[in-house]
Amino acid sequence: MCGIYGIADKNKFGAQDIVNGLKQLEYRGYDSWGIAVTTDSLVKIDKHTGKIGEARSILPDSTTAIGHTRWATHGGVTDENAHPHTDCKKDLAIVHNGIVENYEDLRQTLLKKNHAFTSQTDTEVVVHLIEEYMKSESFELACQKAFNELIGSNAIVVMDNGSKSIFAARLGSPLVIGKGTDKYFIASDITPFLDQTRTIYFLDEGEAVLIKNDKCIFYKTKTGKIFTPLFAQTTITKDAVSKGEFPHFFIKEIYEQVTTIPKTTKIDRKDLESVVSEIKKAKKIILLGCGTAYYCAVGSKYYFAKYGVDVSAYQASEFTPFLETIDENSLVIAISQSGETAETLETVKYSLEKGATVIGVVNARGSSLERIATMVIPVGSGPEIAVVSTKAFSAQLAVLYQIARACNGELENGRKDIEEYGKKLGAWLNERTLDSIKELAQKLIKTPHVFVIGRGVEYPFCLEFALKIKEASYIHAEGFAAGELKHGVIALIEKGTPCIVLCSHDEEYPPILSTAAELKSRGAWIIGVGPKKAKEFDTYIQTFGAGSLTGLTAVVAGQLLGYYMALFQDLDPDKPRNLAKSVTVK
Ligand code: M6R
Repeated sequence: MCGIYGIADKNKFGAQDIVNGLKQLEYRGYDSWGIAVTTDSLVKIDKHTGKIGEARSILPDSTTAIGHTRWATHGGVTDENAHPHTDCKKDLAIVHNGIVENYEDLRQTLLKKNHAFTSQTDTEVVVHLIEEYMKSESFELACQKAFNELIGSNAIVVMDNGSKSIFAARLGSPLVIGKGTDKYFIASDITPFLDQTRTIYFLDEGEAVLIKNDKCIFYKTKTGKIFTPLFAQTTITKDAVSKGEFPHFFIKEIYEQVTTIPKTTKIDRKDLESVVSEIKKAKKIILLGCGTAYYCAVGSKYYFAKYGVDVSAYQASEFTPFLETIDENSLVIAISQSGETAETLETVKYSLEKGATVIGVVNARGSSLERIATMVIPVGSGPEIAVVSTKAFSAQLAVLYQIARACNGELENGRKDIEEYGKKLGAWLNERTLDSIKELAQKLIKTPHVFVIGRGVEYPFCLEFALKIKEASYIHAEGFAAGELKHGVIALIEKGTPCIVLCSHDEEYPPILSTAAELKSRGAWIIGVGPKKAKEFDTYIQTFGAGSLTGLTAVVAGQLLGYYMALFQDLDPDKPRNLAKSVTVK
């Protein structure tokens, strides 16, 4: 949540460079944006509510500049609350990602020392605290001292007009340094500077950096001990983070699944076998995630059961009451696209403290989850930029499907299924399919509610299908287990209520059609999704048979439906309201 970007250069550069970089980070939050540059006198700020769009910077060229895209936590969405924030004298500017839990105490202390605040944010107290410490300390020491006083998960980037330098520190929220020619970049992820350098270093927890012109000093925030970081080359290219020929990342990432799903079969078999041996050792196996990652956990639970392994799936945000059940015999499989989700990380940290083994099934490289997990399976679907998750879900599911099959000694067969699936998905994503989904989307945007119904593994797929519609189109959609309808939910059905019925799997086919008939007899509009047409369907979206993976295509249909339902209402499919891609605060 919140995107941070900064540049320190030996030579002057245009402030527009920061604005352009921020556009790449907007998926992290788009309530407001702002930039600050150093000048001969004071820092100069330009900040606004809303998305960046085609904004042009009005600030002068400089050697040092920082910027921010905000997902509001403390303080409403106003120009005043937009970052950067400054100290009283406007010598310093700060951008921040996280929550300063003790900000009210700090604010009260600073008010008594006559600091004047202009926003309601927790961030502003940090820059005033640094100002206070700078009465007796250097810029970097003051920053370090202030940072060590913050409670919570935070990443800060502070710019000093006097020394034309940037201080950055990380504890809980990501920051990466890019080493360019005569300059350094600092950002929440590598996307803003990928066209200039691929030499990067992810700050670790409790690490800080001071950047001035083209010089960088790294040190530990607690001890001040200087260290030499190990810069690495990222393999991610600029193409991977651009829309290419597609109008939105959302649709690009849906199409990418044709390659990202089969690509998971290239994961080293030894790594998957290590996971299998951990599964066999463990007395308790927990699959963990939030949102889409949680639905992936539930979907995988069905696969594990099918291949003889009993696992539980939990929402990381609801795991607190169950923390005490974790011990050294537990295996936690944490699923996350970003590897930065606050609740997932918190549960993982606790589990590690209790001696549990943690396996991270993660997409983004260099993430916090990747750093702390006992073992990591990178799902390798490349940067997922659209806020609505698509290709990460299917790649994570494909990985867990392989692990489930490997538990039963059938990894190779599982891999063949997945490779085959990729080919069929490519063929299915054709004009005919798109036309039928677009036609349905046009009709569904006129309805207030959509129900999605399934059985077995298609129950979690219903939840994911419904989430795509909710997030992208703002239309109420709810996933239900078919067998549960008669226990209450069927009371919601009236004439014309759209019920999307997922009918992918032969073993569930007769009972799910009975449910469709029961709904239809109460007036529901039955939209069947599956490889076989049935007389119960008023509308039909045809998918294809792919054995145990058949239901996955229903999720892809849900992704496409969500996308077009957003598009047909003139909504921004890549940036749904109120959301941010990476939920780094609780
Ligand atoms: O990065 P993570 O996979 O840990 O994120 C978990 C959820 O925040 C995420 O899946 C969210 O639900 C998406 N908006 C779904 O499209």
